[in-house]
Amino acid sequence: MSFVVPSAWEVAGLLCKLFLYFGAASLAGAALNLAFYSDGSRRSVQGLLVYALIGSVLGFQAVLLNYLVQVGMISASGLAGMFDWTMAEILMDTPLGETTFWRLVAFTLALLGLVICLQLLARRQQAPTRRLNTFLVAVPAVALLVLAESFQLSGHVSVHGNLAQLAISLHVMAFGAWIGSLYPLLRMTSWLEPSELAWFMRRFGDHARLVLAVLLLAGLFLLWELLMSPAELWQSPYGLSLSLKLLLVAALLGLAAHNRYQLVPALAADADAAVQKLQRSIKGEMGLALLILLLTAYLSTLVGPMEH
Ligand code: HEM
Repeated sequence: MSFVVPSAWEVAGLLCKLFLYFGAASLAGAALNLAFYSDGSRRSVQGLLVYALIGSVLGFQAVLLNYLVQVGMISASGLAGMFDWTMAEILMDTPLGETTFWRLVAFTLALLGLVICLQLLARRQQAPTRRLNTFLVAVPAVALLVLAESFQLSGHVSVHGNLAQLAISLHVMAFGAWIGSLYPLLRMTSWLEPSELAWFMRRFGDHARLVLAVLLLAGLFLLWELLMSPAELWQSPYGLSLSLKLLLVAALLGLAAHNRYQLVPALAADADAAVQKLQRSIKGEMGLALLILLLTAYLSTLVGPMEH
């Protein structure tokens, strides 16, 4: 049993995957926050659209670069190999080509839609109407759906049945909704009144229960599908990486519970100190999420289940 030490190409591929995750999280986070946790002000709505736009630009570039990295790695002729067009054409007919195509479609849809949204918003003097807000939510949500579908074509789940494929799409959407909401919530802590902030944070906490249930159930189902037996969790590099992921997820859940049940209620008492603690805690959650995503990129790319 051995862990894979990534080559320079593989490190580049992992970083591309991380930016892809950031793109997915920004789309999900923007859609959810526009729907439920925005105070409706132009500043908040515009901030969320720009957040999704930056995520989509980075996601688009990461998907394209990842394709060139894979071409370069396979053609094995140095950096110039990334532009080996014969190899690039051959790879288009593989699952990598199909996955890349759908991911580029998703980010292009998001980019075009978000630019239109920002223009519509710029033309208005007042806060967006209900109808406009529905459109603003729909744009990142539709792009996220296409992106989440693309995860069925790649990774270890691609050779499993329909239920496992549904589970990975739900898992990706739920991860995006949770982790992608952290940055918008952190921004809100700097301008909302503590009582208003507490209301939005409680609302987020209530919805997060459902999001977490989907994330955890889908994740556990994926474990059930991908592992031959629970012993694989400590007998293979893939299993050990998953065990480490589970430990980090437990720590993240602990921190999220601390926010919801200790820091948010404290906003009513000593507001300034509580806001600062909440900001530090959300940043801690973002740091842990980054570690989980790095590990997820590693285990879904460089190591694999024993059965595969
Ligand atoms: C009980 C908790 C969790 C379990 C059991 C779990 C398990 C899994 C499994 C088995 C996969 C498939 C990996 C593969 O293709 O080999 C997966 C994929 C994924 N997980 Fe989790 N996970 C959990 C929580 C999380 C959390 C909290 C996050 C985000 C912070 C996350 C993010 C992801 C992402 C983005 C993928 C897609 C990987 C890819 O195909 O690129 N997971 N997870």
